Amino acid sequence: MRQWGGRFSSDPGETMLKYSVSLHYDSRLFRHDIKGSQAHVKMLRKQGILSQDEAEALLLGLDKVRERFESGDVPQDISLEDIHTAVESALRDLVGDLAGKVHTGRSRNDQVSLDMHLWCKDAVSEILTAIKALQEAIYDKAVFHQGIVAPGYTHLQRAQPVLLSHHLLSYFWMLDRDRRRFRTVMESSDMSPLGAAALAGSTFPLDPGFTAHELGLGGIYMNSMDAVSDRDFLLEFCFACSTTMVHLSRLAEEVIIWTTPEFGFAELSDTVTTGSSIMPQKKNADSAELIRGRSARVIARLMSLFATLKGLPLTYCRDMQEDKEAVFEAFDVTLASLEMAKEVVEGITFKTDALKKAASDWPLMATDVADHLARQGIPFREAHKIVGNLVRYCLELGASPAGLSPSELSGISPHLTPDIAGLFDPVHSVGLRDYPMATGPNSVRLQLQKALEILRSTTGQE
Ligand code: ARG
Repeated sequence: MRQWGGRFSSDPGETMLKYSVSLHYDSRLFRHDIKGSQAHVKMLRKQGILSQDEAEALLLGLDKVRERFESGDVPQDISLEDIHTAVESALRDLVGDLAGKVHTGRSRNDQVSLDMHLWCKDAVSEILTAIKALQEAIYDKAVFHQGIVAPGYTHLQRAQPVLLSHHLLSYFWMLDRDRRRFRTVMESSDMSPLGAAALAGSTFPLDPGFTAHELGLGGIYMNSMDAVSDRDFLLEFCFACSTTMVHLSRLAEEVIIWTTPEFGFAELSDTVTTGSSIMPQKKNADSAELIRGRSARVIARLMSLFATLKGLPLTYCRDMQEDKEAVFEAFDVTLASLEMAKEVVEGITFKTDALKKAASDWPLMATDVADHLARQGIPFREAHKIVGNLVRYCLELGASPAGLSPSELSGISPHLTPDIAGLFDPVHSVGLRDYPMATGPNSVRLQLQKALEILRSTTGQE
């Protein structure tokens, strides 16, 4: 039964019903909607607005509606419009006209906002758990590969040797910032708008603080107009999802590159790859490609929500219904991508010999030679120029600096002596960079220690 209609002489047309219905996607809010209604009923009882008998019958009835919906029996009749009406109509089937009293001092405007606050907190919890699980997978890989050298890249060109664990851990720290961002979203969602009613509050003497407390929410809005209009917490949620997806997409891109025959640095497990319907030899990194591809959807949802909100006058406008599909998709894609990324990381096998060979390419140690000269008092700019000449000489000749004779070296610069030959070892190279943040083994050990402390100190859901 519709929640309005008294002032209308006809029902909405079929086109309008089909165009405006949200039940097919907002029915996933039923638990939050019922929880909110139960807290509201308790508040109405405490304030003497409902009798004890009425409140008890409504609370019991709402429990039964939840059980019915949990069993999968959620009506999908488009004339019910949305989940709020669907719940009330199911309640009416159980308790009759008394169901209409639940909505005393409430509007769907504060009701839907409350549902989204409660939903967002649960969604953030799930995402935090999934991020932690991925961090654990990355941590395990980094522990397993301690001491393995790999080429580090800038501009997608081999730059300097790094430890593979160092490279992997960079994603651990990205994800750690993601968790911090989601915890902030949790705080922004931890507020109750219930009591704002349509926009101005109610003529009934409500106690919004009591309702918030019943729901385990941290506080209430100071202003009823802001309460029904605020969707900042959903923007923040979509932004946090987008940032996480950008991180996953960059990881996915690296996995795709590493597993090409051209790079040959890693192989994915069969469980996260697919073959080609025509080329029997192919093993494609589709899991990673889909993560990279789907990140676009989440970013688009963030943009769509911004665009939905930007021109809206206070307070509620039906445009706001569009927030739901945006955040639901952002959530679904982000959660599924985190789970997929975890399996990708767990199943990846690094080809450590190939990594070491690539990291041993002598130009990757050119900076170390310049540093070596600078340590002897030559200004770094000059040292850079000398080594640049050395590199050019070697590239033209197709030779390696370690193989040049003392006279060839001094011909390039009197500062170049045969002892530089010892610098062209990638393990030695990473060992030279051994302070916190750099790629050296002690720095990596410190990171692993800190990472473990973080993993141990968080439940995942915070
Ligand atoms: N389905 C609506 C939404 O998601 C519920 C609120 C409707 N309120 C209204 N005044 N029409 O926003």
